Amino acid sequence: MKKNIFLLAFVFSSLFSFGQWTQSLSYYANKCKIKIGSAVGGPYFTNYDTRTTFDMIVKNNFNMLVAENDMKYNAMEPTKGSFFFTTADKLVTNAYNDGMTVRGHTLCWHSQLPSWVNAGLTNGIANGVFTRATLMAVLKNHITTIMTHYKGLVPQWDVLNEPFSDSNGALRNSIWQQVIGNDYIDSVFVWAHRADPAAKLYLNDYSVERMGSTKGDAMFNYIKGMVDRNIPITGAGFQCHFGMPVDSTAMDKNINRYAAIGLEVVFTEIDVRILITDYDKNKAAQLALQADNYRKLIHLCLENPNCKTFITWGFTDLYSWIPSSMAGYDHALLFDKNLAPKPAYFTILNELALESQKTAVEDVKDDDILKIQKSDERIVVLSANIMSRCQVYDLQGKCIFTSDINRNEIEIPTNNFRKGIYILKVQLENGKVLMKKF
Ligand code: XIL
Repeated sequence: MKKNIFLLAFVFSSLFSFGQWTQSLSYYANKCKIKIGSAVGGPYFTNYDTRTTFDMIVKNNFNMLVAENDMKYNAMEPTKGSFFFTTADKLVTNAYNDGMTVRGHTLCWHSQLPSWVNAGLTNGIANGVFTRATLMAVLKNHITTIMTHYKGLVPQWDVLNEPFSDSNGALRNSIWQQVIGNDYIDSVFVWAHRADPAAKLYLNDYSVERMGSTKGDAMFNYIKGMVDRNIPITGAGFQCHFGMPVDSTAMDKNINRYAAIGLEVVFTEIDVRILITDYDKNKAAQLALQADNYRKLIHLCLENPNCKTFITWGFTDLYSWIPSSMAGYDHALLFDKNLAPKPAYFTILNELALESQKTAVEDVKDDDILKIQKSDERIVVLSANIMSRCQVYDLQGKCIFTSDINRNEIEIPTNNFRKGIYILKVQLENGKVLMKKF
């Protein structure tokens, strides 16, 4: 009990006093109208509604969740024709109750298949257990059943995962490709669209984030072909499992060319891993470098109108797939192994908060509500309503002036200001908050 109280106190003090910002990630993400999410696995289900640190972090920071494993083929259809929805339903219901939504991951993949599907391969080669027709029926039933079950509840789906091979960007030699043929790709999108016409449908892969990379170009060209063939696809999922440094320039170019053909890009599985030997040598420097790479990623998403979803593959280094799958690497996520927020967390929070202010600033159109008179010596803020609090922030989010006098007119001395852009935040006596750039 004592431990719980301590944990809660920690969570509240850390979640609600992050530097200058008073809220956590999803508060600002909602204002920016972007989805900020995390994959969740077993620990989510054991911690849900226990008011532990883990539970509070999820509920306070994300507006979208993804099942790390529980919506994959082997989890959902472990036996042919018999579907297991219990765990995924729990996720979708909890998320809904918490004001979040779920991204579906994933309907068609070569990995994490149940043994009854894998029985169609011997040493990786199709063995005749399935024909083109029987395997098409199997896959169509899988997709249709799941998407019908979640119709209207799961707004985004990774319909297809990792269809490209690593070596040359050709289509991967999966059971689907071998037995059905290359057109399985068009079919899975058509089936998904028929089952839930309102759902957004994505093709998701790794090492496809950069324009000019073999796989990145192969995926773009393939998707462009799908668009030309009128296949219902919403966009590309960039998994974003990154080492450092992240090449944001080549990513930006890639995101832009998807925009040019009318498609979205979603960052679906972000983690930025650190070499354990580097981390052990200089932890602070590595965490700062990592934070800067995360900053580049959130920037890319905020600056490109066709990128509105930013998902990390887990949120704490305590539970991350990295150490067990990428030897020598660790510490890839936003919270450390003690569930404390890392510099990368604060960087993302800062970027989201600043962006949300920009949006809010544009909201104040009527100069009569809030007037700013500037001279070299002083700034005077005038409002038709009584102001109960008046603050000035710089563009790094640092508060450099606060006045709590209830008045219509507040004078701000200029001696602390350098030339540049500042944000005025005023709370009116009636509770309304107004912001204005000056
Ligand atoms: C990983 C999970 O994180 C692990 O728990 C599991 O053992 C293997 O799969 N690309 C994907 C994800 O699309 O589904 C993978 O998730 C990571 C790589």
